[in-house]
Amino acid sequence: MIYAANFKTNHTRQSTREYLGRLQPQLIKKHPNDKVYIFPPLTALDDYTSADFTIGAQNAYPVKNGAFTGEVGIEQLAEFNIKTILIGHSERRDILGESQEEVAKKFAFFKEQGFEIIYCIGESLEIREQGIEAVMEHLISQFEGIDTTYENFVVAYEPIWAIGTGRTASVEEITQTHNALKKVVDKPLLYGGSVKGANIAEISAIENVDGVLVGGASLKTETFLELVLH
Ligand code: 13P
Repeated sequence: MIYAANFKTNHTRQSTREYLGRLQPQLIKKHPNDKVYIFPPLTALDDYTSADFTIGAQNAYPVKNGAFTGEVGIEQLAEFNIKTILIGHSERRDILGESQEEVAKKFAFFKEQGFEIIYCIGESLEIREQGIEAVMEHLISQFEGIDTTYENFVVAYEPIWAIGTGRTASVEEITQTHNALKKVVDKPLLYGGSVKGANIAEISAIENVDGVLVGGASLKTETFLELVLH
């Protein structure tokens, strides 16, 4: 299983350091094959060398460096040995206005740089209500321009209506969607959307769920550990 914590715009440099300081000694208890990723805000990135977790960037601009006010490129990530990135999160697509074309450009760039990419896809409630065929059509459209054969690539299915809402997709919905996705992209497949201590057992037991991407429940070390060590 993969356990990935997306802090979004939460935590500071100092609180991230404290969080990781509390997390590290507990990870000795995790299953040796399980992998833990932490995506703190960009200002909290640092060179945390740990065999037990990997730090990734929530976002970066697809350049080495240059004149892109407000963005960071790989030169800034390299300072902290960051080789893992989230691409395509629905908040970046919908709030920050990233088009599929821009997302694909980022993917191609970070692939070229050999980054491990956690690539997010997900549908709105409106699409979900139209049924699985509409959902799959939408999810497949989010692979447009993406090299799904890239070896260092994990997919995170995050239904938008389940993110931060407390409304998790049902076991049936996750099962059906993940089974269909596995036929399209044979890569590790994470589920995200209101994952917490109360539902981790049933979600992680689903056959084609290879891990979880967690927002709210990842913000406290204790609640994230409830997932990792369940
Ligand atoms: P929540 O766990 O807060 O629903 O967020 C999920 C998410 O968007 C992780 O990327």
